[in-house]
Amino acid sequence: RKQQRKKICEMNKIAARYFHKNLYAPEGKKALEYLRGRGIDDRIIKTFGMGFAKDGWDHLMKLLAEKGYTKQDMQAAGLIKMSEGKSYDMFRNRAMIPIINAFGDIIGFGGRVMDDGVPKYLNSPETAAFNKSRNLYNLNLIRRQKNLSHLILVEGYMDVIALFSYGIPECVATLGTALTQDQARMMKRYTDHVYISYDGDAAGQKATLRALGILSQEGIETRVVVIPDGQDPDEYLKKYGRDGYIKLMKTSLPEMDYRFGVTAAKYELSDSHQKEKFAKECANLLKKVESAVTKEKYAKKLSDMTGYSPESILQDAGGLRRETE
Ligand code: CTP
Ligand code: MN
Ligand code: MN
Ligand code: MN
Ligand code: MN
Repeated sequence: RKQQRKKICEMNKIAARYFHKNLYAPEGKKALEYLRGRGIDDRIIKTFGMGFAKDGWDHLMKLLAEKGYTKQDMQAAGLIKMSEGKSYDMFRNRAMIPIINAFGDIIGFGGRVMDDGVPKYLNSPETAAFNKSRNLYNLNLIRRQKNLSHLILVEGYMDVIALFSYGIPECVATLGTALTQDQARMMKRYTDHVYISYDGDAAGQKATLRALGILSQEGIETRVVVIPDGQDPDEYLKKYGRDGYIKLMKTSLPEMDYRFGVTAAKYELSDSHQKEKFAKECANLLKKVESAVTKEKYAKKLSDMTGYSPESILQDAGGLRRETE
């Protein structure tokens, strides 16, 4: 198995070099223009090892065959697909982003279409080398930074790349899946302060609520960076620059404030019945708060929002002690 993993990473390395070279060949002009159009310059392309998979069915397959790899090897690496006895390159006509683990091995790829085609991203399948739920994008670069005071968790590859190019390199992304407990544990090795900076749309909000639960289970202190108008970090940075994003980080919300905000948006607080439901739902959220001081602080906040006394809110929240589940 270890042998197989090594072989897959070797093939991926050959593929990544080939994709990178393609980007600067005449056929890669369109891809290079696409990346540059997104503000990605040669330095960033190099840092992230980006490339281009040419259009065609067997460019990479031929190259790997020349190097002595069998089709079985290539399929095990997720670099080719086989169906009905025919085989073909998995990645065709896409801008390529290698996924590199903490040891610097290329374990897989994300490939982006350069127009409105679907799927927008095609990711390597799970292989002996690539376990999506146990890796994070950008770990290889994070690892070099000592004493990280925090990490920023984003949804996409391009968000990481944009943050990096604006001088905010302390970020990671999940690999096209929901955040897992394993990934939270990995983050905890680097820091116990995480900013969740998911897309500012409904999907991002849902994923944020989920991530809050997972990260706090690992004892990580979280804050939520709320991005307006459904934008993602990449789009926001392009509009408002580094300073704009840093400002957003400064106004980021602690977990409970964010949860109260999301809950408040569901109710019409001028209606007394809905306000009552809102207060109960928030008191229920408060049950999990460990510190009595923190609990009191939020009970007061809820009291200000609703007019109910902090005492009755605290009572609904299970008193000053944490409720153990
Ligand atoms: N994703 C994926 N497959 C898709 C769509 C999304 O794997 N078909 C993953 C990718 O890792 C992507 C992330 O989910 O980076 C977030 O998705 P989305 O916000 O839709 O993409 P962006 O990262 O914003 O992509 P871009 O800026 O290139 O449009
Ligand atoms: Mn700390
Ligand atoms: Mn999205
Ligand atoms: Mn996005
Ligand atoms: Mn985006």
